[in-house]
Amino acid sequence: MIFILFFLCTLLSYLYLKKQKKGKQKQRAKLLIPPGSMGWPYIGETLQLYSQDPNDFFAEKQTRYGNIFKTHILGCPCVMLASPEAARFVLVTHAHLFKPTYPKSKEKMIGPFALFFHQGNYHTNLRKLVQSSLAPEAIRKLVPDIEAIAISALESWASTVGEVIHTFHEMKKFSFEVGILSIFGHLDGKYLEQLKENYCILDKGYNSFPTNLPGTAYNKAILARKRLGEILSEIICERREKKLLGKDLLGHLLNFKTEEGQTLNEDQIADNIIGVLFAAQDTTASVLTWILKYLHDDQKLLEAVKAEQKMIYESNDGGKRPLTVD
Ligand code: HEM
Repeated sequence: MIFILFFLCTLLSYLYLKKQKKGKQKQRAKLLIPPGSMGWPYIGETLQLYSQDPNDFFAEKQTRYGNIFKTHILGCPCVMLASPEAARFVLVTHAHLFKPTYPKSKEKMIGPFALFFHQGNYHTNLRKLVQSSLAPEAIRKLVPDIEAIAISALESWASTVGEVIHTFHEMKKFSFEVGILSIFGHLDGKYLEQLKENYCILDKGYNSFPTNLPGTAYNKAILARKRLGEILSEIICERREKKLLGKDLLGHLLNFKTEEGQTLNEDQIADNIIGVLFAAQDTTASVLTWILKYLHDDQKLLEAVKAEQKMIYESNDGGKRPLTVD
């Protein structure tokens, strides 16, 4: 009898302590998760996001919950960060605690072999390859061509009278052309136009609601992505036939070989080209837009930048030689 009583007491106290521990853990977890709403089961707040201007959705959340809030979008529980300190925490000081993942719908549009969807050797090798194709020595050779793209953009703005020029859109066009230049070198005009047209459809559908029904922005983007794959396949085929190696990103991707002698297949090359175009376009365009804004707002800063440019230009043989940066 004593033995049974002792056993029951031990069991009850064990269960009680376990329950208390669980409760404490739950409370702690609750404290650590930022404020916000997870919306409906499975769909979360996806419909709310897509039924209004995304800027309004996020602005309303920010006002209500602050710079760090939770939500549930496109099948993913998320924590949204809207402050430089929080971004630094994720990307710099505590980067080791995070693993980059993307919603499936986005992965499908870029291409599953793009390096940012991977970890391990494949990721390391491709990251090194992309970095080396964008090293200062490689970029230095492109400066005259980049300057030509910039001058042509300036001339096109100067010729539009009475029209409003949307800076970010123009910067997107500019960064796309520079991206194409660093990926392919001098690309045939026919291919450039085809890539531009289809990439623009892809870009428009990238953040749309992922319903793959005919006529939707998402479906149009998926079809444009397929065409982009076909165009890239033609460009790759032509390069291989002409045995043009090239020191651009495509050249690096075509020449890639692991220590075991493994090369990249056409899908891996195409997904990484679209991936780099995607990673480079909006990011660079927004930085350029902010630079223009600050130069416009601060005349002293603008004068200092102009003076520095003049000095570099004059040191390049009085402007007879194209601009180069050391
Ligand atoms: C001001 C412009 C840019 C900004 C603010 C920016 C920002 C970022 C950020 C925040 C990441 C994620 C880093 C991480 O997950 O640890 C990233 C990754 C990446 N960016 Fe950029 N980026 C810029 C320009 C570019 C350009 C011009 C390229 C052209 C190749 C590029 C290619 C990439 C690639 C390939 C990755 C994936 C790296 C990996 O998975 O290891 N980015 N970028």
